[in-house]
Amino acid sequence: MGCVRLSVVLLIAIMISTMTVLGKEVRVNQSTSGLFWSTSKEDGDFFRKEDSEEPVALSENDELDGGFSSLEGMLQWAIGHSDPAKLKESAENVQRQRMSDDELKKRQVEIQELMEKLKMPSDAELMKIAINDLNNSSVSVEDRLRALEELLLLVEPIDNANDLDKLGGLNAVARQLDNIDPDVRKLAAWVLGKASQNNPVVQQQVLELGTLGKLIKMVKSDFTEEATKALYAVSAVIRNNVNAQEVFYAEAGDLMLKDILSNSGVDVRLRRKCVFLVGDLAESQLENGHKAKLPFFSDHVFLNAVVNLTFSDDLDLQEKTLVAIKNLLELRVSEASVFRELCALDKALESMRLQLQQVMEDETRRDYAMDVEILRREVELIFYKKLDKGVQVPT
Ligand SMILES: *[C@@H]1O[C@H](CO)[C@@H](O)[C@H](O)[C@H]1NC(C)=O
Ligand SMILES: *[C@@H]1O[C@H](CO)[C@@H](O)[C@H](O)[C@H]1NC(C)=O
Ligand SMILES: *[C@@H]1O[C@H](CO)[C@@H](O)[C@H](O)[C@H]1NC(C)=O
Ligand SMILES: *[C@@H]1O[C@H](CO)[C@@H](O)[C@H](O)[C@H]1NC(C)=O
Repeated sequence: MGCVRLSVVLLIAIMISTMTVLGKEVRVNQSTSGLFWSTSKEDGDFFRKEDSEEPVALSENDELDGGFSSLEGMLQWAIGHSDPAKLKESAENVQRQRMSDDELKKRQVEIQELMEKLKMPSDAELMKIAINDLNNSSVSVEDRLRALEELLLLVEPIDNANDLDKLGGLNAVARQLDNIDPDVRKLAAWVLGKASQNNPVVQQQVLELGTLGKLIKMVKSDFTEEATKALYAVSAVIRNNVNAQEVFYAEAGDLMLKDILSNSGVDVRLRRKCVFLVGDLAESQLENGHKAKLPFFSDHVFLNAVVNLTFSDDLDLQEKTLVAIKNLLELRVSEASVFRELCALDKALESMRLQLQQVMEDETRRDYAMDVEILRREVELIFYKKLDKGVQVPT
């Protein structure tokens, strides 16, 4: 703690020395120590304060999500980003210049003013700036991407996500899904997903915008990154939301899942997300039921594609597939005999058992493989129980 206090003193000393050179344009630049704040418009001014002449920029991208609530917070940040040896050296240089008490007091007041000026804008202000950029058709692709990246961080706290629509942001982001640049579309989908995650308010707002259908179509994009983020967004919008799931089925989301799962050329990340969503939907069907009839869950082409994923050599995908199969088996509409006759689930599970045994020989993957094996046995048990029942009560 004593060390931190000392550093604060040193830092202030450095700021005093720097400020004298600054003149009107407020600038704290101790680049040799890794500390840098700038208010210059040329320096990639991402944060523009619209109402003041001096825009505020912060060059540390990884510090964008919070802002500084206090002078101390700011100093702590500065200290964390500084090289202590260089700080000390600089401070000694300052001390050599010797200032009178009056001078020092005056400087302290100046520093206080500097800190006021450097005060970071609120999250709402930052969101407005980003939304403004998205709405501005003459903004470059680069700035558009930056605005979306900024929103991606900003919508993480639920209060901010809830503010997004009030600020016109949901609409502005959703319109980026039509952008000609695939990276812009990808980020827009990502932001929508992030804002909707575990947030029924935003889920409903996205539905009202009519964006779910567009996101579902985007999942078929040839650009894997775009497809993956679109699927992430689809999942986030419909998760634990029966109403949204009805819209999902109405927009042929089930066909989209079937297409992707049957296409063995699809990227493994996309397949993982896809099969995870299948498990999620089956679980939701199990818990809530749906107004709509869902032939999807008894469609043997679809079930076959799911079972086929057990042959993957990706443990994560296998695990998610087992969860999906487990939930599907527990649905009343699914028939164990279909799983056996048309999907050869018995053979798939046996072959998976042998494969997992081999993986367990690799020490680095043993624990994970054992977890998957436990799940596999559970699925096997449910499957044979269901088969038995089917035999006892023939239809
Ligand atoms: C910081 O100041 C030094 C000279 O004092 C200058 O060379 C450098 O370009 C400045 N850095 C930035 C990022 O403004
Ligand atoms: C739109 O962006 C352009 C280019 O960055 C800028 O010159 C203009 O001032 C912006 N318009 C608004 C209304 O923000
Ligand atoms: C951006 O555009 C949307 C949709 O037209 C609008 O609702 C919102 O108010 C605009 N926001 C800003 C900051 O320009
Ligand atoms: C099952 O997977 C294999 C490759 O792992 C693929 O060639 C085959 O088409 C898939 N079958 C179905 C029905 O998805």
